[in-house]
Amino acid sequence: MEKSKKASESLTIMTNIVLPNETNSLRNLFGGELLAKMDRCASISAARHCERRVVTASVNHVSFDRPIPEGGIVVLESKVSRAFSTSMEIYVDVWLDDPINQKRIHTNSGIYTFVAVDEFNRPIPIPKMEPETDDEKTRFEAALRRKELSLILSGRMKAADSVELKKLFGS
Ligand SMILES: CC(C)(COP(=O)(O)OP(=O)(O)OC[C@H]1O[C@@H](n2cnc3c(N)ncnc32)[C@H](O)[C@@H]1OP(=O)(O)O)[C@@H](O)C(=O)NCCC(=O)NCCS
Repeated sequence: MEKSKKASESLTIMTNIVLPNETNSLRNLFGGELLAKMDRCASISAARHCERRVVTASVNHVSFDRPIPEGGIVVLESKVSRAFSTSMEIYVDVWLDDPINQKRIHTNSGIYTFVAVDEFNRPIPIPKMEPETDDEKTRFEAALRRKELSLILSGRMKAADSVELKKLFGS
């Protein structure tokens, strides 16, 4: 597919307040609730990029660096970080927003792979993605390495067939 899009065209921002039924016994946002929110946000970015139906193929990495308390305002921001043939990597950043003190704390991030599918759930080609900012370029460069790692861990690729990981580990 010749069409190419900018990362910013897939930008998705979701803002929520943490309600009591979403928390764990420490009254912080339950990890599974956050994962669901991140998956939703990422799926919208993926659909905005490829203008197709998408499915989650893999959750490549999620970190929970800081807790998000009950009543906290959670802001999720996602963008396509790289498009391959039928799959794309989506980066999700999560922030705890404090409007009273006008502060924002980065609480965690996640990296997802989505695949564009047709009406028979078969993968279909997607537009390329052009990174523009320095951050977008950094994430774009590393995405192929992460794709190879994800394919190896899911048994879809032999470690010996990797290109980017071999460069990284020098063998
Ligand atoms: C994702 C899915 C469409 C892939 O179908 P498939 O027949 O295996 O297709 P392919 O092997 O051609 O893979 C399609 C693309 O996904 C990528 N991919 C598949 N699994 C991957 C993984 N674990 N990590 C990274 N990329 C992956 C492939 O590399 C390929 O990318 P490319 O075309 O951009 O190079 C299929 O496995 C599926 O429908 N899974 C269920 C999805 C779902 O229900 N998600 C919701 C979970 S609740």
